[in-house]
Amino acid sequence: MSTSSKLLPVHKRFDISFSHGEGVYLFSDGKKYLDFGAGIAVNALGHCHPKMVEALSSQAKKLWHVSNIYNINELNNYAEKLVDATFADYAFFCNSGAESVECVIKMIRRHFYTKNQPQKNRIITFTGAFHGRTIATISAAAKKKYLEGFEPALDGFDNVEFGDIEAVKKAITKNTAGILIEPIQGEEGIRVADKKFISELREICDEKNLLLAFDEVQCGMGRVGHLFAHEYYGVKPDIIATAKAIAGGFPLGACLATKDAASGMTLGVHGTTYGGNPLAMAVANSVLDIILAAEFLPNVRAVAEYLKNQLIDLQNDFPNLIDEVRGVGLMIGIKINQTIENNELVRRLIDQGLLTVPASDNVIRILPPLIITKDHAKEAVDKIRDCLLTIGRL
Ligand SMILES: Cc1ncc(COP(=O)(O)O)c(C=O)c1O
Repeated sequence: MSTSSKLLPVHKRFDISFSHGEGVYLFSDGKKYLDFGAGIAVNALGHCHPKMVEALSSQAKKLWHVSNIYNINELNNYAEKLVDATFADYAFFCNSGAESVECVIKMIRRHFYTKNQPQKNRIITFTGAFHGRTIATISAAAKKKYLEGFEPALDGFDNVEFGDIEAVKKAITKNTAGILIEPIQGEEGIRVADKKFISELREICDEKNLLLAFDEVQCGMGRVGHLFAHEYYGVKPDIIATAKAIAGGFPLGACLATKDAASGMTLGVHGTTYGGNPLAMAVANSVLDIILAAEFLPNVRAVAEYLKNQLIDLQNDFPNLIDEVRGVGLMIGIKINQTIENNELVRRLIDQGLLTVPASDNVIRILPPLIITKDHAKEAVDKIRDCLLTIGRL
């Protein structure tokens, strides 16, 4: 079925729809597709994982929604488990990535407001970042394309060059409250910040009394082979935003913070109707149990290394089509040369039975479910190879 004309035409869609999914495969008209896009880094455990189905259906028979004006057992239990697994002391739950970043922004501002430093209300952000589509998050990311026609942008952000530590130092004033970074930029084409750059940001924040916040909406929840990407960097943030994979396809976002960073978030200053909804909590709980199992993340790292090496071999075989293979864990970008447009390659890969995701910089994103095996990785690379062969070994 093609796209309904009744839909606000804001989403560019490929001409395909799916009837169902199972594991790492999606099905359409009887044809099987290896899903290496995972709903843009959402379906961490693939499609219809039995533990998630069981969690959702058994919760659906008990309790769907109660207001946050009551205690919610599923929310309490999940918050304890998630916080215990991280650097954080507190969790706040919402419904999407943009909302989780919104909470980060509010938390940074409130922190200094309640410390009698209301003038410290500006946040340093970076070129190329994507933080969501609300007015605050498009203002934070400051990308012209997403701001066009929606101005005036929200004030309070100083956008500097990604990776440029001198630019960060220069941008800090008496009004700077914090730094918000998407350490591995997904939408921008899997641009990976240096470990040194991220450590220096931590040092600067400590030295200047600023809060360091990571947007881990796309790179968090096991995607890079660690529960969160800051663990890959070996740097402890003050606040993170996460969403996407957190409930493997059930809408959920979270803001995690240390007690000190969250000190301004007192009774009544923030809230949400759905955040902590028992259905979302039950599913998220089942996802977290699986990701935290002893072998899960080491296995993600091992399969990711295998996949990346296979893709580098592919680059060596097609040096005139592939410019670069980059990324961390199962967040990989293949930068295609100008011979073919990434959207066209993604479309041809769909014909080949492989789903990938386009990004800026003529990149195709490889974001498979975290449960893939080496056989799945090989199947995907073979499909890409077959597709590139039809384009021509230049
Ligand atoms: C890094 C990052 N932050 C924020 C968002 C916004 O998330 P959502 O679309 O759930 O609002 C996204 C979505 O792609 C993202 O990749």
